[in-house]
Amino acid sequence: MLKEKMEQEKKVAGEAAVDYVESGMVVGLGTGSTAYYAILELGRRVRDGIKIQAIPTSEHTRKLAESENIPMIDFSKTIKIDLTIDGADEVDPQLNMIKGGGGALLREKIIASASTEMIVIADSSKNVPCLGQFPLPVEVTPFGWQTVVPQIEALGARAVLREKNGETFVTDNHMYILDCHFGEINDPVVMEVEINDIPGVVINGLFVGLATRLLVGQGSSVKTIERE
Ligand code: 5RP
Repeated sequence: MLKEKMEQEKKVAGEAAVDYVESGMVVGLGTGSTAYYAILELGRRVRDGIKIQAIPTSEHTRKLAESENIPMIDFSKTIKIDLTIDGADEVDPQLNMIKGGGGALLREKIIASASTEMIVIADSSKNVPCLGQFPLPVEVTPFGWQTVVPQIEALGARAVLREKNGETFVTDNHMYILDCHFGEINDPVVMEVEINDIPGVVINGLFVGLATRLLVGQGSSVKTIERE
């Protein structure tokens, strides 16, 4: 897809999601280049007077939200989030997702699980019939991550330790990530549990049954898909 079209779709989807935010809400703020547009739009609404409190899914998003003067809250004050807006790497027709391309999957999953509603925002390239072309991120402990590799490979993937600028990528939670090339994940419900059962796995990027609504950019318009 052309970069300009993809960027436009991210922007329209991100901005449209903010229409669901109401005064008084606690809002989970996603991570990534699509969530970026939602956070900028939310910043504009805050300047216009909407009263919300936000919980960020990453340190990167925290800094962006702070620069937008979006009021923040944390789990010591509330464990209930009304609405989370976040991106995805792939979304299937049941609104199951692969997330974690940006490495924020653990906090993203904690926040999505604590949310009454999760709106996923995406450009149209993210809409897939079957998950798995995008390598599945699996967050692992630095101690013993090597033992996780053959156990993931026994499930049918090639697992590669994520690197950034030639060094091992370290998450906000001081963990590592294995990017797991499955090709096709036919049963994400079972796969999510199987991977989480491996000792050394902290969390994996399969988000099953968490998204309630998908806003997908299509050129300059937005298509809304509700979970059935
Ligand atoms: C970060 C994520 C992102 O939501 C996902 O990678 C999509 O990012 P983008 O909107 O930049 O394509 O899961 O951990």
